[in-house]
Amino acid sequence: MNNISLPDLNKARFRSAGYKAEIIRNALDLNDVQRNLGSGLNYHVITYGCQANVRDGEVISGILEEMGYAHTELLEEADIIILNTCAIRENAEKRVIGEIGFLQNYKRIKPSLILGLCGCMAQEDVIVKQIMEMFPSVQLIFGTHNIFELPKLIENILVNNEKSVKVYSRQGNIYEGLPSVRTSPFKASINIMDGCDKFCTYCIVPYTRGQQRSRLREDVLSEARQLVSAGYKEIMLLGQNVNAYGKDLSSDNGDFARLLAEVAETGIPRIRFMTSHPWDFTDEMVDAIAKYDNIMPFVHLPLQSGSNSVLKRMGRRYTNDEYIALFDKLKSKVNELAVSTDIIVGFPDETDEDFEDTLKIVEYCKYDNAYSFIFSPRPGTPAAKMTDSIPMEVKKERLQRLNGRLAYYSKMNNLKWEGRTVEVLIDGPSKNNPTVYSGYTPQSKLINFTLKEGQIGDIINVKVTEGRKNSLNGEQE
Ligand code: 5AD
Ligand code: SF4
Repeated sequence: MNNISLPDLNKARFRSAGYKAEIIRNALDLNDVQRNLGSGLNYHVITYGCQANVRDGEVISGILEEMGYAHTELLEEADIIILNTCAIRENAEKRVIGEIGFLQNYKRIKPSLILGLCGCMAQEDVIVKQIMEMFPSVQLIFGTHNIFELPKLIENILVNNEKSVKVYSRQGNIYEGLPSVRTSPFKASINIMDGCDKFCTYCIVPYTRGQQRSRLREDVLSEARQLVSAGYKEIMLLGQNVNAYGKDLSSDNGDFARLLAEVAETGIPRIRFMTSHPWDFTDEMVDAIAKYDNIMPFVHLPLQSGSNSVLKRMGRRYTNDEYIALFDKLKSKVNELAVSTDIIVGFPDETDEDFEDTLKIVEYCKYDNAYSFIFSPRPGTPAAKMTDSIPMEVKKERLQRLNGRLAYYSKMNNLKWEGRTVEVLIDGPSKNNPTVYSGYTPQSKLINFTLKEGQIGDIINVKVTEGRKNSLNGEQE
């Protein structure tokens, strides 16, 4: 095989009119050699970034296990270590480069160790070249479009003793039937779509993950039904922009509102979804969330900025008034809805007034939870080329001020739950204290509680005793 094929971020920008993603079924076709390549060997996958990456990590693990590899938690026992990376901000990338440097030690001790890199960073031409120069010992690089080729790539390394670097900058296809090792026996993610066509000017995702491709509703539903029969309690429907689900398919397939309703009808106790874009959020979707008790009353609704001029330059396609109108509609129709958000401060040339507009929306929406970031220029995106006169110290001050307000509202929302009883899906013993268990409420609030009876994966009633900044405390009723 031609074993080196590098990404091209410029090509990844390209969307051809009328392009139709192909559905490739039984995408993993292993030969006898590949099926045994990993026998007696161990793998370890390190995943960074969003839920889509976590799901990819589960698929990568599934493929490795089909090849005979066994999972190990210990890096020193691993024969292959794969870094499943994120490119969303520069600091995410810096962490990965640091980690590759650290993993060199393991490679020195065990020269047969395969170090692999995949995920969104692998789609970036400059980064891949840099990593190949800095770390010649990285033998395996593959992208977000060719996870299914992993067996062939590993075979090339083990049998021919050659590097395998294969990254496509395609618009992308849909791969059905890939194996996966799910990280939880009661909470599962289902990818309902991949890629993104929104091209917000700051964002690298449309380049790293290709054109929006929705899976057929029937494929999503059959995965959901399998999870229900396997005893799963919670399904997270995943996509970069779930509200645009189905827009790239024929209208018979239906949109996200229909998909939500039909997944709800499978009887799974809890449904969540991530991430929403305000632009594509229809009334029917709001109504579906309001109608079904098993669709959890929680929406992650990224604001990004409260300033119309910044929103425009971000290419977000809504105004602050339109955002508020949607927020109000959701809050009035969905009982006890919690809303979280993402906010970027310090977008190029963001003025004090722009920032104040963002704070105004924060004061209005009083978010339950929020993720805030300083703008990070991503090479190849339009915003990275915009002039920016705002010093980093100003951006940092803004972030601090914003975080102060976000923390205030997060705590205020949590205090409101004190004395009330909430349903909690038990995740397991809490990290810091094994006599205390933790889980999430319907509103997606982390709660730590004392357990009288029940086990991991059960949904139980918990009385909230304390609302804290980022979590709740409680006792089982
Ligand atoms: N700089 C800072 N934050 C970013 N995000 C996306 N791209 C960038 C960037 N270039 C944030 C957005 C998005 C979240 C996942 O990450 O807020 O919603
Ligand atoms: Fe990171 Fe975005 Fe890629 Fe997810 S899709 S891993 S957030 S760059």
